[in-house]
Amino acid sequence: MAVVEGTESAKELAGRHALNEVRSGMTLGLGTGSTVRWFLEALGEALREDRLRDIRGVPTSVETEERCRQLRIPLVTLPEAGRIDVAVDGADEVDPSLDLVKGLGGALLREKMVVQAAERFVVIVDPGKLVRGLGRKAPLPVEVVPFGWEAHLRFFRGLGSEPELRRVAGEPFVSDNGNYIVDLSFSNGIPDPEALDRALAHRAGVVESGLFLGVADRIILGEAGKPKVLDRTGRTP
Ligand code: A5P
Repeated sequence: MAVVEGTESAKELAGRHALNEVRSGMTLGLGTGSTVRWFLEALGEALREDRLRDIRGVPTSVETEERCRQLRIPLVTLPEAGRIDVAVDGADEVDPSLDLVKGLGGALLREKMVVQAAERFVVIVDPGKLVRGLGRKAPLPVEVVPFGWEAHLRFFRGLGSEPELRRVAGEPFVSDNGNYIVDLSFSNGIPDPEALDRALAHRAGVVESGLFLGVADRIILGEAGKPKVLDRTGRTP
């Protein structure tokens, strides 16, 4: 129980600290997950109290969209936004180069599209997400079209992973985009994330993977009561 509470307070710390990245008039990418929920709380409070104005958010999932509506955070679609000032999202793993694995929440495709449109990408995590190498703690989620998904299993094994179709109550999990997710487990981590990223990108029927390489500008780590900020340069400001 203590670990769960500690993790939750670390998530809250990171999520709330990310509000420092936001200025009035900005268009924001709004990620998905339990850490982002704290950021949304803080953003909703700041809007209600008039500390921030003219904010528009692009949600990365139906879950985030619904929470934003409850919190009265104004939303626009990705095409309406055009350009996003800052995307804020969680992660499942962060390595020393600030490369990420994302998608345990199943929203990786929209998350990646929003990051692609963003000037800056800020990632909020608790310390349990830090890893020495990607794939050591979490499986790598890969979104695939449902048609013939079983045909990928041999290909995924050939990449050194043990693949497993994600299920909920025995049925295939269906993403907000109507696709399936196959989770790839690597017994000793992912040896070469860039090569894996390229291999997956060239596979017909694979829509997107949860590898987010070279895209995080800043990591906000909710740590020991005080958030720690890691920038891509490796410096702590
Ligand atoms: C959603 O698809 C994921 O990419 C999340 O960003 C990731 O799983 C982090 O979620 P938590 O903040 O709940 O750990």
